[in-house]
Amino acid sequence: MDIILLGPPGAGKGTQAQRLQRNRGMIQLSTGDMLREAVAKGTPTGLKAKAVMEAGELVSDAIVSALIGERLDSAGDHGAIFDGFPRTKHQAQALEILLGERGRKLNHVIELIVDEEVLVDRIIGRFTCATCGAGYHDSLHRPKVEGTCDVCGGHEFKRRPDDNEQTVRTRMAEYRAKTAPILPYYEEKGLVRRIDGMGSVEEVAAAIDAVLDS
Ligand code: AP5
Ligand code: ZN
Repeated sequence: MDIILLGPPGAGKGTQAQRLQRNRGMIQLSTGDMLREAVAKGTPTGLKAKAVMEAGELVSDAIVSALIGERLDSAGDHGAIFDGFPRTKHQAQALEILLGERGRKLNHVIELIVDEEVLVDRIIGRFTCATCGAGYHDSLHRPKVEGTCDVCGGHEFKRRPDDNEQTVRTRMAEYRAKTAPILPYYEEKGLVRRIDGMGSVEEVAAAIDAVLDS
């Protein structure tokens, strides 16, 4: 099964994609994570993307579509969770071609709906495990044992350079202007499933499971 998790910054795409990867054997394909890895390694893609990401703007369609194309075959029998991709109409079309070439097609586009002020709070309080990437939040979702990752037991955590209020506002504006307009494209295909993303991580997870098991 191949699905898209669609929603504004902080909607919970990464949190839910990680859970689906752990529980269902699907592969999380996050263009944000791929780009951050490229920036950390200083690859040519990373050098191009760094300033754009720090400003909260979108990296070029060609770069992110190529990143997805390189990883798509890593999705085994259980399929992929596209997290943060596609973000423009051009990327949506590129994904359709990439899947079609492999005899695959999208099963669901899951839209997570969350109020903007909640999104800003979530992002400003976010941190992740430096070892395994598991996501946490200062007040909303702390590790069960203070200072220890629930998933891998690691003790080091980090924060993203684009998780500040000013950049978050730009990321929201980019979402409204360029990403939200791809929803009608998927609505026409009957693929969109809207989910209230304001509940707890577990409540949102249960709603996603209900869609995937339907
Ligand atoms: P990307 O990494 O994709 O960031 P984003 O879309 O801004 O999304 P986030 O990762 O901020 O949020 P999320 O929805 O995953 O939320 P999370 O689960 O972490 O992109 C970063 C940048 O890369 C872009 O700005 C752009 O420059 C570039 N880029 C990436 N892809 C691109 C593309 N396709 N095209 C062009 N450019 C691209 O949750 C947030 C916080 O809330 C966490 O602390 C979490 O613990 C907490 N939380 C989650 N769910 C809940 C809940 N239900 N209740 C309470 N707390 C919750
Ligand atoms: Zn960890």
